[in-house]
Amino acid sequence: MAKLLILLLLALAPCVNAQQTDLIANTEGRKTINLNGQWQIIVDPYESGYYNYRYQPSNDGYFKNAKPKTKSELIEYDFDSSGSLNVPGDWNTQTDQLFFYEGTVWYKKSFDYARKPDTRAFVYFGGANYLADVYLNGEKIGRHEGGFTPFNFEITKLVRDTGNFLVVKVDNKRRRDAVPTLMTDWWNYGGLTRDVRLIETPTTFVNDYFIQLQKGSRNRVTGWVKLAGDKLKQQVTVRIPETGFSRSFATDARGFAAIDFSADLKLWSPEDPKLYDVSIEAETDQVRDRIGFRSIETRGTDILLNGRPIFLRGVCIHEEAPIRGGRAYSREDAQTLLGWAKDLGANFVRLAHYPHNEWMIREADRLGIMVWSEIPVYWTIEWENPVTLENARNQLGEMIARDKNRAAVVIWSVANETPLSDARLAFLKNLVSHARSLDPGRLLSAAMERHYINDTTQMINDPLGEYLDVLGCNEYVGWYDGLPEKADQLEFKSKYQKPLVMSEFGGDALYGHHGDALTRWTEEYQESIYQHQIAMLKKIPFLRGTSPWILTDFRSPRRPLPKIQDYWNRKGLISSRGEKKKAFYVLQAWYRELQQR
Ligand code: GCU
Repeated sequence: MAKLLILLLLALAPCVNAQQTDLIANTEGRKTINLNGQWQIIVDPYESGYYNYRYQPSNDGYFKNAKPKTKSELIEYDFDSSGSLNVPGDWNTQTDQLFFYEGTVWYKKSFDYARKPDTRAFVYFGGANYLADVYLNGEKIGRHEGGFTPFNFEITKLVRDTGNFLVVKVDNKRRRDAVPTLMTDWWNYGGLTRDVRLIETPTTFVNDYFIQLQKGSRNRVTGWVKLAGDKLKQQVTVRIPETGFSRSFATDARGFAAIDFSADLKLWSPEDPKLYDVSIEAETDQVRDRIGFRSIETRGTDILLNGRPIFLRGVCIHEEAPIRGGRAYSREDAQTLLGWAKDLGANFVRLAHYPHNEWMIREADRLGIMVWSEIPVYWTIEWENPVTLENARNQLGEMIARDKNRAAVVIWSVANETPLSDARLAFLKNLVSHARSLDPGRLLSAAMERHYINDTTQMINDPLGEYLDVLGCNEYVGWYDGLPEKADQLEFKSKYQKPLVMSEFGGDALYGHHGDALTRWTEEYQESIYQHQIAMLKKIPFLRGTSPWILTDFRSPRRPLPKIQDYWNRKGLISSRGEKKKAFYVLQAWYRELQQR
């Protein structure tokens, strides 16, 4: 009965991704046509391109890309004489008119594509914030909800050799029942914020695969390969040429083959981020990928990488483009941000509070930086709404689907600073078990609440901790909680025999704004916070990682203070122009000290 009710509610809900094919793994190694660049747009605050004047969905909306056929025909829009925006890119930082805009923008891209016989075609989006309705040649091909995960739709039957028009209605309006919900502390950058590609595959192709070391092992590789198409029973060969390894596995009637073999592999680590060329060859298709192999586990309060205890020297990062601002989306953006994290002495980054673009993860893989990846279950989500839960599960599934073969990703996080309640616990436990069912190998965490049990003792006993591998905890002693020296008196206790990552701490400073260490917003105040924090953190016996808030200043609509914030959260260790603040060097010194150990 409950299942029926959920299905009914889902059918009614405006979201959940219709007609979406399984995420195609590793579009890198495939024949793709890049659809990035200038797209024609129509800004449509009243959604008159979607609804008629009775607020009913219209069959004759902007997705038809109609042109008047006679001088008398009435058409009240025209993509080709409207403005254009760059894709990938948010609309807010491309034109001042849309800086604060939250609503619908229609995108249109015309293209020709001579599909080869016996092939299939898909359109792949790296991400679109927030709700995307996708049409090809006037036909609806699907809908996707969630601003930070990829999705693809099959267009084989609809695409034609010439004169195709792909239309996407992107709506970034915030909703109470959405994920994230109405209130966040980051800019709600809207648009086709990541790469758009056209992917061509054989009729039966390697749809997805999961190839990683088995939990706790350093030489046993387990996982699976999944074919999609009509010739599902095949021999699939997995090769790692550098090691001479090659083994064939038979797929079953569902196109599925379990993978299990032992190999003598050099293990991936921050010191030596070894990636292997791995090819998956079916009779009808083959894909290549660069995969690292490492084991990650906990033992008591320790985190073990390849069997050895490690300390996660980290920093939080928002997907804010360095220097130019706006949603980051490119390999270069990733190289700049991760390069700064490396300068800090970091071997770990917490990508907040949503899955970042694939370039970020692939560069972390290449550079040897471990990653905490999180879905935007942030602050006060609608815990009792089954549609919200389904949406969060879907985003979690898509995050794991895209990055499950990346050695750099060591922690999946299901939430940030969510208030205690039974409904919240049930919601998050559901996500934790969903993640474990999809990926039994990685560690699960969340940025949890903690509370004072007396003036000088903070206790970590959030009931969610029971179900996690790593405890994440945010604290702002010295900024929202007292003055910097308050940290000197504090100790942390935990109900759990588990490792702690202090997933946020810090304070705001405007670069170049100076004064004494008790003057808010100055670099000296922020520097003092870090000095007192580090002394406090060193005393926590079960601390196994830190990711202070945050690498660079980032835009937030909640930060209007003129001449100081101007809609930027200034807790960055680096300014929005790439200038390092005094606190940067305090943390760098500590991380260098830890590196020497
Ligand atoms: C919170 C939150 C962040 C926010 C930060 C801040 O803890 O997790 O998203 O930006 O604090 O207040 O600066």
